[in-house]
Amino acid sequence: MVVPGATSADLDRRAEEFIRDHGGEPAFKGYMMSDETDPYPATLCTSLNEVVVHGFPNDRPLESGDILSVDVGVRLDGYHGDCAATYGVGEISADDQRLLDTTVASLHAGLEQACDGKWVYDIAREVQRVAEAEGFGVVRDLVGHGIGASLHEDPAIPNFVPNPFVRHRYQNSKLVTGMVICIEPMINSGGHRVVTGDDEWTVTTVDGGRSAHFEHMVHVTGEGPEVLTTHIPRPVVES
Ligand code: MF3
Ligand code: CO
Repeated sequence: MVVPGATSADLDRRAEEFIRDHGGEPAFKGYMMSDETDPYPATLCTSLNEVVVHGFPNDRPLESGDILSVDVGVRLDGYHGDCAATYGVGEISADDQRLLDTTVASLHAGLEQACDGKWVYDIAREVQRVAEAEGFGVVRDLVGHGIGASLHEDPAIPNFVPNPFVRHRYQNSKLVTGMVICIEPMINSGGHRVVTGDDEWTVTTVDGGRSAHFEHMVHVTGEGPEVLTTHIPRPVVES
């Protein structure tokens, strides 16, 4: 449905209908990030161009050349699923395509580390290496997470190796068989800095650069990572 002329509100309605038809519930709708902030109002996060994540679906028609990140969460039988991908609308610029391809490549480089006995920072280091090698900015203010009976569980999965002063925020947990984690690089065409809007959700780049977001849910096993969200594109550039 991500084509010129469609709206993100159209996508949102269709996604909610699809989830409910399959016996699930939209996991984001009504989600409270904290006690003080408003609940998330929609099924999807639809984040256009310079919006990084948590954009509200709206009635603006998509235009050729836009990039749209679509993030979706489902609750079914007591467990959660969560994934995201960024799509080009119609024809997109070579620079935007490179941003999408690099973000996919960084996600895959990171998830290759999701093996029994490795560490959270092994994932973080690989994501950061691939993204920064292309000159892109790795968002620091939002991170991946464990997932299961709750949408967000420990451990936090940063997309960068935190400097020593903030390491206490992102414990370098050991990855062990049976853990399920969401790895979700948010990569900016320019600087890494982001700002949250007055609606308390919409996160945009400070410098107005574009942003891409891909998220896989990954099961850690002794044989390596098992990707549970299989529909997201495979990498097309080498990591
Ligand atoms: N994939 C995002 C996350 O893991 C989506 C969160 S939207 C929210 O944080 F509404 F659930 F917060
Ligand atoms: Co997530």
